[in-house]
Amino acid sequence: MKITMIGTGYVGLVSGTCFAHWGNDVICVDKNAAKIAGLNQGILPIYEPELDGLVSKYHQAGRLSFTCDLAAAVKDADIVFIAVGTPARAGHGDADLSFVYMAAKEIAPHDVPVVVTRRRTSELIKYAANAFLATKITFMNELADLCELAGSDISDLALGIGLDRRIGSSFLNAGPGYGGSCFPKDTLALLRTAQDYGVALRVVEETVTANEARKRKMALKVLDAVGGDVDGLTIAVLGLTFKPDTDDMREAPSVPLIETLQRFGATIRAFDPVGMPNAAQMLDDVALIDDPYECARNADAVVIVTEWDCIRRLDLTRLRKLMNAPVLVDLRNAVSQESAEAAGFRITMIGKPVRNNKETHSAALAEKEAKSAVTAGGGVRGRLHTGNDGKAGTAGRSRL
Ligand SMILES: NC(=O)c1ccc[n+]([C@@H]2O[C@H](COP(=O)([O-])OP(=O)(O)OC[C@H]3O[C@@H](n4cnc5c(N)ncnc54)[C@H](O)[C@@H]3O)[C@@H](O)[C@H]2O)c1
Repeated sequence: MKITMIGTGYVGLVSGTCFAHWGNDVICVDKNAAKIAGLNQGILPIYEPELDGLVSKYHQAGRLSFTCDLAAAVKDADIVFIAVGTPARAGHGDADLSFVYMAAKEIAPHDVPVVVTRRRTSELIKYAANAFLATKITFMNELADLCELAGSDISDLALGIGLDRRIGSSFLNAGPGYGGSCFPKDTLALLRTAQDYGVALRVVEETVTANEARKRKMALKVLDAVGGDVDGLTIAVLGLTFKPDTDDMREAPSVPLIETLQRFGATIRAFDPVGMPNAAQMLDDVALIDDPYECARNADAVVIVTEWDCIRRLDLTRLRKLMNAPVLVDLRNAVSQESAEAAGFRITMIGKPVRNNKETHSAALAEKEAKSAVTAGGGVRGRLHTGNDGKAGTAGRSRL
């Protein structure tokens, strides 16, 4: 089949390459000439595991080509996909569909068959699916907080309820809060649409609020772990992207975590196997180090934020020996508690029983964070509802 993919980003390039892999002839179109020129020379604009090998294989085989010439690309196509960006509209939160309309208009004169459904329904299907998954994650995150205090284990809880097929086992991993290019943007767009019709989607509203609060609250977990104060300490953050196997930093929980720790006076060093070039554009005053062990050298605590395989497989004894203090905060439950403790770490995880509640400082620290947020003013609150432009607000970054 002859397939044309309009938009060669995270979705278009990956899907187009998969279609070529399945034996189709694929033309990927993008209006970004630099991106297309790079792809024609084998330079990929994004990271996805094994994508570079597949792109070069099918490009060389003539099954996958890249062009800016939309008219030529759609002329003989059996199927045309539109995979262009749908960012949140600045200052609103609803989806900016202008790129989709623009692409649709450009192909319209070429008499390409179009599948028609009600626009509102197709929009709502996508938003409702993502809002549901975002809510599922947030539900587990809140249960993880309960598990910590009630002496329960969120991993066992997830396993237990996941066996019920009505619930399913996916999207039950508790963590530092969801991020990425879809959930934050689509939940806000759904709320904006509902507001336009005077409908209160309270569950989704709470999901959005709880998730934003959680991302910053993760800094309090780090403060608790080091004994109450990070001022003057060096914290090594391992994993920066919003999930493993991508270089995508959009709405990544690592960003508010790092900003909050910096406001509390910590010095941040960070490692990510592929996300550091993108992270460098979003973070100030962070030393980006391309080796996890070097990143942890002389650190007072290590915080795991993204569960990359290379981070899961760290030699914890070696890591521990390089550090100033044996503090490990694992926000993804990526390493085994037993191995970490055997290596000499004091480990804090998500949704695992807190071993000594008396030593936690959360109440005092929550007060400190609230004061800090007030001092930082609208910048912090504004940051909580920024759109999908991938840029961190500058006000949120200022040190107090
Ligand atoms: N990233 C994800 O994981 C993901 C998952 C599911 C759905 N989506 C959705 O898929 C869509 C695309 O997302 P993405 O992450 O790939 O975006 P992206 O920003 O990575 O890529 C979009 C590409 O479209 C190109 N483009 C824009 N207008 C164009 C036009 N008129 N003609 C040709 N090219 C044009 C841009 O130059 C860009 O390269 C969005 O609606 C998004 O919400 C994304």
